[in-house]
Amino acid sequence: MSIQSAPIDKKITVRTVQERKGHEPVTMVTAYDALFAGIFDGEVEMILVGDSLNMSFFAEPDTLSATLDQMIYHTKAVCKGAKLPLIVFDMPFGTYTTPEQALANATRVFRETCAEAVKIEGGREKADVVRILSENGIPVVAHIGLMPQSVRAEGGYRVRGRSEEEIRELMADALALEEAGAFALLLEGMKSEAATRITEAVKIPTIGIGAGNGTDGQVLVWSDMFGFFEAFKPKFVKRYLDGAELIRQGLRQYREEVRSRTFPDEKHSY
Ligand code: KIV
Repeated sequence: MSIQSAPIDKKITVRTVQERKGHEPVTMVTAYDALFAGIFDGEVEMILVGDSLNMSFFAEPDTLSATLDQMIYHTKAVCKGAKLPLIVFDMPFGTYTTPEQALANATRVFRETCAEAVKIEGGREKADVVRILSENGIPVVAHIGLMPQSVRAEGGYRVRGRSEEEIRELMADALALEEAGAFALLLEGMKSEAATRITEAVKIPTIGIGAGNGTDGQVLVWSDMFGFFEAFKPKFVKRYLDGAELIRQGLRQYREEVRSRTFPDEKHSY
């Protein structure tokens, strides 16, 4: 199947993303290495080097074990593979507990990698962190709604915005983070109505994951959307490929050909 969609042939910047609000939605996927980032280059506007890395590729039960060093290492790899997308660095748990700590850590990220923005989880209690980063040349994507780094504190993952009261809380967070200087909001795990109302209320773009179709863009974890991560599939994940099955089929064919001595044939021998 060949899908025709306008190619992305220019470098995407914070400004490009902001200018897309109210126009065509932006696409973002996660990436963790140079190989796949190279494939994603020119196909999506934004790449998130997400701390989901530790769940998808390290079999951890949640994202809390990710460290700054580890995320920097993976971001360096992504930078080698992808040249056009805006690269967003996911600040790991415990690395932005105070504005000063956040600034020191994010400054290191900017010095050592090509990241062009950082993402932090938290509502209005993180406005000071967003402000200090934004005022020091570090663009921030502020992540609200279902926040995976709070899973142990919350005792699980829960969809937000189910009541008028919850929507009011989310809205207050969104407006405070915008006011503090966030250049975009990531809205995770909330009722579509909540995400749509926030999107309409703020001037900055919103990027949704499990937040319905009313946001200014979408993000998915690449190993989920291509069917490589099989442990569980949240409702919001659409599988665009059955990647794990494709790999297994390839491996079965390889095994069969090795056992039957049809591989390597002459074409693949010196
Ligand atoms: O780490 C990650 O991949 C994320 C997405 C779920 C948005 O934060």
